[in-house]
Amino acid sequence: MTETATLSLTDVPQVYKRHVFACFQQRPPTHPRGSCGAAGAQPLWERLGKQIEATGQRDIVMTATGCMGFCQAGPIMVVYPEGVWYQPRTPEDVDEIVTTHLVGGTLVERLVIVPRI
Ligand code: FES
Repeated sequence: MTETATLSLTDVPQVYKRHVFACFQQRPPTHPRGSCGAAGAQPLWERLGKQIEATGQRDIVMTATGCMGFCQAGPIMVVYPEGVWYQPRTPEDVDEIVTTHLVGGTLVERLVIVPRI
């Protein structure tokens, strides 16, 4: 007989302080769904990766993803564990998200989006 664990969601330790998922999906500019790549994601996510690395904090990481389903809102990224979705448009927006949210733990309200499913 095996024992059954009775852990709740909050009992499981977080591996990272912050984990960013950034959409790298690229579709042709004329594709009806649009894409984060067509909206200029690539240079923003390259900057995001460099800025995260520059923090020197190994518990803040980024993962490149494919489409997350909200293509018209692109370029989009989501930060866990909070589950906050952002739509940065400029390199300065990316820098602010890194400094204020990923490192500082405070929302960058002006860049938040709330995708609807
Ligand atoms: S292409 Fe980025 S969410 Fe769909």
